[in-house]
Amino acid sequence: MQIKKVGVVGCGLMGHGIVQVAAQGGCEVVALESEQAALDKGLGRVDRSLAKLASKNVEKGKMDQAAADAWVAETRGRISGTTERGDLADCDLIVEAIVENLDVKKELFAGLGEIAKAEAIFASNTSSFPIGEMAAASGRPERFVGLHFFNPVQLMKLVEVVRTDETDAEVFEAARAFGAACGKAPVSCKDTPGFVVNRLLVPYMVQAIDMLDRGDASKEDIDTAMQFGCGYPMGPLTLTDYVGLDTTLFILQGWTERYPGEPAFKVPASLERLVAEGKLGRKTGEGYYKWDGDKKA
Ligand code: 3HC
Repeated sequence: MQIKKVGVVGCGLMGHGIVQVAAQGGCEVVALESEQAALDKGLGRVDRSLAKLASKNVEKGKMDQAAADAWVAETRGRISGTTERGDLADCDLIVEAIVENLDVKKELFAGLGEIAKAEAIFASNTSSFPIGEMAAASGRPERFVGLHFFNPVQLMKLVEVVRTDETDAEVFEAARAFGAACGKAPVSCKDTPGFVVNRLLVPYMVQAIDMLDRGDASKEDIDTAMQFGCGYPMGPLTLTDYVGLDTTLFILQGWTERYPGEPAFKVPASLERLVAEGKLGRKTGEGYYKWDGDKKA
Protein backbone atom coordinates (compact mmCIF):
# COMPACT_ATOMS: atom_id res chain seq x y z
CA MET A 1 0.00 0.00 0.00
CA GLN A 2 1.85 3.10 -1.19
CA ILE A 3 0.71 6.64 -0.64
CA LYS A 4 1.29 8.74 -3.75
CA LYS A 5 -1.51 11.30 -3.71
CA VAL A 6 -2.48 13.11 -0.52
CA GLY A 7 -5.38 15.41 0.24
CA VAL A 8 -5.00 17.83 3.12
CA VAL A 9 -8.17 19.42 4.48
CA GLY A 10 -7.39 22.81 6.03
CA CYS A 11 -4.47 24.98 4.98
CA GLY A 12 -3.98 26.89 8.24
CA LEU A 13 -1.15 26.80 10.78
CA MET A 14 -0.80 23.00 10.73
CA GLY A 15 -2.39 22.18 7.38
CA HIS A 16 -0.07 24.29 5.24
CA GLY A 17 2.92 22.63 6.90
CA ILE A 18 1.51 19.15 6.25
CA VAL A 19 0.87 20.10 2.61
CA GLN A 20 4.47 21.20 2.32
CA VAL A 21 6.22 18.25 4.01
CA ALA A 22 4.09 15.76 2.05
CA ALA A 23 5.16 17.48 -1.19
CA GLN A 24 8.78 17.56 0.00
CA GLY A 25 8.41 13.81 0.56
CA GLY A 26 7.51 13.31 -3.10
CA CYS A 27 3.71 13.06 -2.87
CA GLU A 28 1.28 14.86 -5.11
CA VAL A 29 -0.77 17.03 -2.73
CA VAL A 30 -4.19 18.64 -3.01
CA ALA A 31 -4.91 21.28 -0.37
CA LEU A 32 -8.61 21.82 0.35
CA GLU A 33 -9.95 24.97 2.00
CA SER A 34 -13.53 26.23 2.28
CA GLU A 35 -12.68 29.70 0.93
CA GLN A 36 -10.29 30.81 -1.81
CA ALA A 37 -8.80 33.55 0.44
CA ALA A 38 -7.83 31.00 3.11
CA LEU A 39 -6.35 28.73 0.47
CA ASP A 40 -4.29 31.58 -1.01
CA LYS A 41 -3.06 32.53 2.46
CA GLY A 42 -2.02 28.94 3.27
CA LEU A 43 -0.25 28.40 -0.05
CA GLY A 44 1.45 31.78 0.37
CA ARG A 45 2.87 30.47 3.64
CA VAL A 46 4.13 27.37 1.84
CA ASP A 47 5.86 29.60 -0.73
CA ARG A 48 7.58 31.64 1.98
CA SER A 49 8.64 28.57 3.91
CA LEU A 50 10.04 26.82 0.82
CA ALA A 51 11.97 29.97 -0.10
CA LYS A 52 13.34 30.17 3.45
CA LEU A 53 14.42 26.51 3.51
CA ALA A 54 16.01 26.86 0.07
CA SER A 55 17.99 29.95 1.05
CA LYS A 56 19.15 28.20 4.25
CA ASN A 57 20.38 25.26 2.20
CA VAL A 58 22.29 27.62 -0.10
CA GLU A 59 23.75 29.49 2.90
CA LYS A 60 24.91 26.23 4.46
CA GLY A 61 26.45 25.10 1.16
CA LYS A 62 24.13 22.10 0.90
CA MET A 63 22.82 23.24 -2.51
CA ASP A 64 23.81 25.82 -5.09
CA GLN A 65 21.25 28.45 -6.09
CA ALA A 66 20.17 26.61 -9.25
CA ALA A 67 19.56 23.35 -7.35
CA ALA A 68 17.67 25.24 -4.64
CA ASP A 69 15.47 26.97 -7.24
CA ALA A 70 14.79 23.63 -8.92
CA TRP A 71 13.92 22.01 -5.55
CA VAL A 72 11.43 24.78 -4.76
CA ALA A 73 9.85 24.58 -8.23
CA GLU A 74 9.58 20.77 -8.14
CA THR A 75 8.14 20.70 -4.61
CA ARG A 76 5.67 23.50 -5.30
CA GLY A 77 4.76 21.84 -8.60
CA ARG A 78 3.41 18.83 -6.68
CA ILE A 79 0.94 21.03 -4.77
CA SER A 80 -2.44 22.16 -6.03
CA GLY A 81 -5.25 23.89 -4.19
CA THR A 82 -9.00 23.53 -4.35
CA THR A 83 -12.20 24.59 -2.65
CA GLU A 84 -14.09 21.55 -4.01
CA ARG A 85 -14.21 18.49 -1.76
CA GLY A 86 -14.75 16.26 -4.79
CA ASP A 87 -11.17 16.98 -5.92
CA LEU A 88 -9.95 14.67 -3.13
CA ALA A 89 -11.85 11.66 -4.52
CA ASP A 90 -8.79 9.87 -5.92
CA CYS A 91 -6.38 10.56 -3.03
CA ASP A 92 -4.63 7.60 -1.36
CA LEU A 93 -4.56 9.44 1.96
CA ILE A 94 -6.65 12.33 3.26
CA VAL A 95 -5.31 14.22 6.28
CA GLU A 96 -7.65 16.49 8.20
CA ALA A 97 -6.19 19.62 9.82
CA ILE A 98 -9.25 21.80 10.42
CA VAL A 99 -10.59 23.57 13.50
CA GLU A 100 -10.32 21.59 16.77
CA ASN A 101 -14.06 20.86 17.02
CA LEU A 102 -15.10 17.21 17.18
CA ASP A 103 -18.57 17.65 15.65
CA VAL A 104 -17.17 19.57 12.69
CA LYS A 105 -14.48 16.92 12.17
CA LYS A 106 -17.01 14.07 12.36
CA GLU A 107 -19.22 15.77 9.81
CA LEU A 108 -16.24 16.29 7.52
CA PHE A 109 -15.20 12.63 7.72
CA ALA A 110 -18.75 11.44 7.12
CA GLY A 111 -18.76 13.53 3.92
CA LEU A 112 -15.30 12.35 2.87
CA GLY A 113 -16.39 8.75 3.46
CA GLU A 114 -18.93 9.21 0.70
CA ILE A 115 -16.63 10.73 -1.92
CA ALA A 116 -13.18 9.17 -1.35
CA LYS A 117 -12.16 5.97 -3.13
CA ALA A 118 -12.73 2.81 -1.10
CA GLU A 119 -9.05 2.10 -0.45
CA ALA A 120 -8.23 5.66 0.71
CA ILE A 121 -6.82 6.05 4.20
CA PHE A 122 -8.18 8.79 6.44
CA ALA A 123 -6.12 10.57 9.10
CA SER A 124 -6.81 13.29 11.61
CA ASN A 125 -4.18 15.71 12.88
CA THR A 126 -6.25 16.31 16.03
CA SER A 127 -4.26 17.21 19.13
CA SER A 128 -6.69 15.79 21.60
CA PHE A 129 -9.90 14.20 20.31
CA PRO A 130 -10.49 10.43 20.24
CA ILE A 131 -9.51 9.06 16.85
CA GLY A 132 -12.06 6.25 17.31
CA GLU A 133 -15.02 8.66 17.26
CA MET A 134 -13.95 10.21 13.96
CA ALA A 135 -13.13 6.76 12.57
CA ALA A 136 -16.68 5.60 13.34
CA ALA A 137 -18.17 8.69 11.69
CA SER A 138 -16.12 8.10 8.52
CA GLY A 139 -17.72 4.71 7.87
CA ARG A 140 -14.26 3.12 7.38
CA PRO A 141 -12.83 2.66 10.89
CA GLU A 142 -10.28 0.06 9.77
CA ARG A 143 -8.73 2.60 7.37
CA PHE A 144 -8.42 5.41 9.90
CA VAL A 145 -5.41 6.66 11.91
CA GLY A 146 -4.22 9.71 13.77
CA LEU A 147 -1.28 11.57 12.21
CA HIS A 148 -0.31 14.21 14.69
CA PHE A 149 2.31 16.68 13.47
CA PHE A 150 3.94 19.44 15.52
CA ASN A 151 4.19 23.17 15.02
CA PRO A 152 6.07 24.37 12.98
CA VAL A 153 5.53 21.26 10.89
CA GLN A 154 8.40 22.09 8.54
CA LEU A 155 10.93 22.09 11.38
CA MET A 156 9.62 19.69 14.02
CA LYS A 157 10.88 16.19 13.38
CA LEU A 158 8.13 14.15 15.07
CA VAL A 159 4.84 12.67 13.94
CA GLU A 160 2.67 10.60 16.26
CA VAL A 161 0.90 7.79 14.42
CA VAL A 162 -2.18 6.74 16.35
CA ARG A 163 -4.09 3.49 15.95
CA THR A 164 -7.44 2.44 17.32
CA ASP A 165 -8.38 -1.17 18.06
CA GLU A 166 -9.93 -1.29 14.61
CA THR A 167 -7.08 0.16 12.55
CA ASP A 168 -5.88 -2.34 9.95
CA ALA A 169 -2.19 -3.28 10.48
CA GLU A 170 -1.32 -2.54 6.84
CA VAL A 171 -2.99 0.87 7.02
CA PHE A 172 -1.03 1.68 10.15
CA GLU A 173 2.25 0.70 8.50
CA ALA A 174 1.40 2.78 5.40
CA ALA A 175 0.71 5.78 7.65
CA ARG A 176 4.03 5.32 9.46
CA ALA A 177 5.83 5.08 6.11
CA PHE A 178 4.11 8.28 4.97
CA GLY A 179 5.31 10.06 8.15
CA ALA A 180 8.85 8.88 7.45
CA ALA A 181 8.59 10.03 3.81
CA CYS A 182 7.63 13.48 5.15
CA GLY A 183 11.01 13.51 6.91
CA LYS A 184 9.58 12.83 10.38
CA ALA A 185 10.37 10.28 13.05
CA PRO A 186 7.10 8.36 13.46
CA VAL A 187 6.19 7.15 16.94
CA SER A 188 3.30 4.72 17.46
CA CYS A 189 0.66 5.39 20.05
CA LYS A 190 -2.73 4.06 21.11
CA ASP A 191 -5.84 6.24 20.97
CA THR A 192 -5.41 7.86 24.41
CA PRO A 193 -6.03 11.52 25.42
CA GLY A 194 -3.21 13.72 24.05
CA PHE A 195 -1.30 10.66 22.77
CA VAL A 196 2.29 10.93 24.05
CA VAL A 197 3.37 14.54 23.60
CA ASN A 198 0.30 16.54 24.56
CA ARG A 199 -0.49 14.28 27.51
CA LEU A 200 2.83 15.42 28.96
CA LEU A 201 3.17 18.88 27.41
CA VAL A 202 -0.25 20.45 27.99
CA PRO A 203 -0.37 19.79 31.78
CA TYR A 204 3.13 21.32 31.92
CA MET A 205 1.87 24.45 30.13
CA VAL A 206 -1.08 24.57 32.58
CA GLN A 207 1.29 24.45 35.55
CA ALA A 208 3.34 27.30 34.09
CA ILE A 209 0.23 29.46 33.49
CA ASP A 210 -1.05 28.73 37.02
CA MET A 211 2.34 29.75 38.38
CA LEU A 212 2.11 33.05 36.48
CA ASP A 213 -1.52 33.59 37.57
CA ARG A 214 -0.55 33.04 41.23
CA GLY A 215 2.25 35.58 40.86
CA ASP A 216 4.96 33.07 41.83
CA ALA A 217 7.29 34.36 39.09
CA SER A 218 7.16 36.60 36.02
CA LYS A 219 6.47 35.11 32.59
CA GLU A 220 10.01 35.97 31.51
CA ASP A 221 11.52 34.21 34.53
CA ILE A 222 9.33 31.12 34.14
CA ASP A 223 10.38 30.87 30.50
CA THR A 224 14.06 31.54 31.17
CA ALA A 225 14.03 28.97 33.96
CA MET A 226 12.74 26.18 31.75
CA GLN A 227 14.78 27.23 28.73
CA PHE A 228 18.10 27.32 30.54
CA GLY A 229 17.33 24.98 33.44
CA CYS A 230 16.05 22.17 31.26
CA GLY A 231 17.58 22.99 27.90
CA TYR A 232 14.21 23.42 26.17
CA PRO A 233 14.25 25.53 22.99
CA MET A 234 11.61 27.89 24.42
CA GLY A 235 9.84 28.35 27.76
CA PRO A 236 6.25 27.17 28.41
CA LEU A 237 4.54 30.57 28.07
CA THR A 238 6.31 31.37 24.81
CA LEU A 239 5.35 27.89 23.67
CA THR A 240 1.68 28.53 24.56
CA ASP A 241 1.81 31.65 22.38
CA TYR A 242 3.38 29.55 19.65
CA VAL A 243 0.80 26.75 19.82
CA GLY A 244 -2.09 29.25 20.05
CA LEU A 245 -4.04 30.06 23.20
CA ASP A 246 -7.30 29.08 21.52
CA THR A 247 -5.93 25.67 20.56
CA THR A 248 -4.61 25.12 24.08
CA LEU A 249 -7.98 26.15 25.54
CA PHE A 250 -9.95 23.90 23.16
CA ILE A 251 -7.77 20.95 24.15
CA LEU A 252 -8.25 21.61 27.87
CA GLN A 253 -11.98 22.28 27.64
CA GLY A 254 -12.44 19.02 25.75
CA TRP A 255 -10.41 17.06 28.27
CA THR A 256 -12.00 18.56 31.38
CA GLU A 257 -15.46 17.71 30.00
CA ARG A 258 -14.49 14.20 28.92
CA TYR A 259 -12.23 13.24 31.85
CA PRO A 260 -13.49 15.22 34.86
CA GLY A 261 -11.58 12.98 37.31
CA GLU A 262 -8.12 13.70 35.85
CA PRO A 263 -6.45 16.39 38.01
CA ALA A 264 -3.78 17.16 35.38
CA PHE A 265 -6.50 18.52 33.06
CA LYS A 266 -7.73 21.99 34.11
CA VAL A 267 -8.37 25.38 32.50
CA PRO A 268 -6.20 28.18 33.91
CA ALA A 269 -7.99 31.51 34.51
CA SER A 270 -5.74 33.74 32.39
CA LEU A 271 -5.95 31.38 29.41
CA GLU A 272 -9.74 31.67 29.32
CA ARG A 273 -9.57 35.47 29.76
CA LEU A 274 -6.99 36.07 27.03
CA VAL A 275 -8.86 33.92 24.53
CA ALA A 276 -12.10 35.83 25.30
CA GLU A 277 -10.14 39.03 24.56
CA GLY A 278 -9.03 37.62 21.19
CA LYS A 279 -5.40 37.37 22.31
CA LEU A 280 -4.56 34.02 20.80
CA GLY A 281 -0.77 34.18 20.78
CA ARG A 282 1.76 34.77 18.03
CA LYS A 283 -0.80 34.47 15.23
CA THR A 284 -2.86 37.45 16.49
CA GLY A 285 0.16 39.49 17.64
CA GLU A 286 -0.56 39.04 21.35
CA GLY A 287 -0.98 36.25 23.90
CA TYR A 288 1.17 36.00 27.01
CA TYR A 289 3.64 38.16 25.04
CA LYS A 290 3.29 40.78 22.30
CA TRP A 291 4.55 39.63 18.90
CA ASP A 292 5.80 41.41 15.84
CA GLY A 293 5.54 38.72 13.17
CA ASP A 294 7.68 35.77 14.25
CA LYS A 295 9.58 37.70 16.92
CA LYS A 296 8.57 38.98 20.35
CA ALA A 297 7.82 42.72 20.19
N1 3HC B 1 9.58 27.13 7.47
C1 3HC B 1 10.84 27.43 7.15
N2 3HC B 1 11.70 28.05 7.98
C2 3HC B 1 11.23 28.38 9.19
C3 3HC B 1 9.91 28.10 9.62
C4 3HC B 1 9.07 27.45 8.69
N3 3HC B 1 7.81 27.14 8.99
N4 3HC B 1 9.75 28.55 10.88
C5 3HC B 1 10.92 29.09 11.26
N5 3HC B 1 11.81 28.99 10.24
C6 3HC B 1 13.19 29.46 10.21
C7 3HC B 1 13.32 30.78 10.93
O1 3HC B 1 12.94 31.85 10.09
C8 3HC B 1 14.79 30.78 11.28
O2 3HC B 1 15.54 31.30 10.21
P1 3HC B 1 16.80 32.29 10.51
O3 3HC B 1 17.78 31.44 11.25
O4 3HC B 1 17.24 32.68 9.14
O5 3HC B 1 16.26 33.43 11.32
C9 3HC B 1 15.12 29.31 11.45
O6 3HC B 1 14.02 28.56 10.90
C10 3HC B 1 15.27 28.88 12.87
O7 3HC B 1 14.23 29.45 13.60
P2 3HC B 1 14.50 30.19 14.96
O8 3HC B 1 15.43 31.33 14.84
O9 3HC B 1 13.16 30.50 15.57
O10 3HC B 1 15.39 29.12 15.70
P3 3HC B 1 15.13 28.00 16.75
O11 3HC B 1 16.44 27.39 16.91
O12 3HC B 1 14.41 28.57 17.94
O13 3HC B 1 14.19 26.90 16.09
C11 3HC B 1 12.05 25.95 16.58
C12 3HC B 1 12.82 27.09 15.94
C13 3HC B 1 12.39 24.63 15.89
C14 3HC B 1 10.58 26.27 16.36
C15 3HC B 1 12.42 25.83 18.07
O14 3HC B 1 12.27 27.06 18.69
C16 3HC B 1 11.60 24.80 18.79
O15 3HC B 1 11.86 23.61 18.72
N6 3HC B 1 10.57 25.26 19.55
C17 3HC B 1 9.66 24.39 20.26
C18 3HC B 1 8.49 24.11 19.36
C19 3HC B 1 7.58 23.09 19.95
O16 3HC B 1 7.75 22.59 21.04
N7 3HC B 1 6.57 22.74 19.16
C20 3HC B 1 5.61 21.78 19.57
C21 3HC B 1 4.41 22.47 20.00
S1 3HC B 1 3.16 21.33 20.51
C22 3HC B 1 2.32 21.01 19.12
O17 3HC B 1 2.57 21.50 18.07
C23 3HC B 1 1.24 20.04 19.27
C24 3HC B 1 -0.11 20.68 19.18
O18 3HC B 1 -1.01 19.63 19.05
C25 3HC B 1 -0.47 21.49 20.39
